[in-house]
Amino acid sequence: MTATIIDGKEFAARVRAEVARHVARLNADHGVTPGLSVVLVGADPASEVYVRSKGRSTVEAGMNSWEHRLPAETAEADLLALIGRLNADPAVHGILVQLPLPGHIDSDLVINAIDPAKDVDGFHISNVGLLGTGQKAMVPCTPLGCLMMLRDHHGSLAGMEAVGVGRSNIVGKPMAQLLLGDSCTVTIAHSRTRDLAAVCRRADILVAAVGRAEMIPGDWVKPGATVIDVGINRIERDGRQRLVGDVDFASAARVAGAITPVPGGVGPMTIACLLANTLTACCRSHGLEEPEGLTA
Ligand code: GUN
Repeated sequence: MTATIIDGKEFAARVRAEVARHVARLNADHGVTPGLSVVLVGADPASEVYVRSKGRSTVEAGMNSWEHRLPAETAEADLLALIGRLNADPAVHGILVQLPLPGHIDSDLVINAIDPAKDVDGFHISNVGLLGTGQKAMVPCTPLGCLMMLRDHHGSLAGMEAVGVGRSNIVGKPMAQLLLGDSCTVTIAHSRTRDLAAVCRRADILVAAVGRAEMIPGDWVKPGATVIDVGINRIERDGRQRLVGDVDFASAARVAGAITPVPGGVGPMTIACLLANTLTACCRSHGLEEPEGLTA
């Protein structure tokens, strides 16, 4: 058996086009343009790439985009003051503070200073709590993208056995909440899980988000399962730099029913969902109907 490849790049392009269509209508009907502010502290090269890419996609979707680049030695109080100004600015519907922050800054304090209604990352404790209690929340972009792909592939997820490997606040935990919300039976596995292979083999839906290159081999995958690979790991193979996931793609694709590739799977969906969240935040702030299919 050879798995269906879930094309995240193509799916993300569809989501971005859908967002752009809604943005154009918002503008025509209500004179409103969604706006996203991205804050980058320091000059981490990977973060620079993400931030530039976010800015470009935001503008392409017809939204306003602002970048706030602060030096690595910025005082926590100055960062909090900037967030206060963005919270108060009615043109800003979404605020994203790129992580990781420099060590002298308390990330939790900064994230929780963002107006929850503008928290397009869905990291504020208020949004975490709303998601956990099944209320309307801003949902973290990466797990939202995974959920969209799963719904697109399966229709209903009700009753499916879902296993997430990884328990991060950014992916593993919110992913579990979303799968539970769609009536899956959910297990969160992690580095201390006993017999991880056996736990993975139970999964109809296997979501890998651990950040360890190719750690999940094909023989941990239940035949016909859907595998969502969130990992983006840089490795060297045959003298060349390559991007690989947390799943060993070659062996898993022979067993799975469907699988996301790396690159071109989950990655492109994350930015598409950031745009979707910015649009959603804008609609909610103006009391307008939210776009269908772009939220959890
Ligand atoms: N750094 C790595 N992933 C993320 C993310 O999803 N949001 C933010 N703000 N920073 C990140």
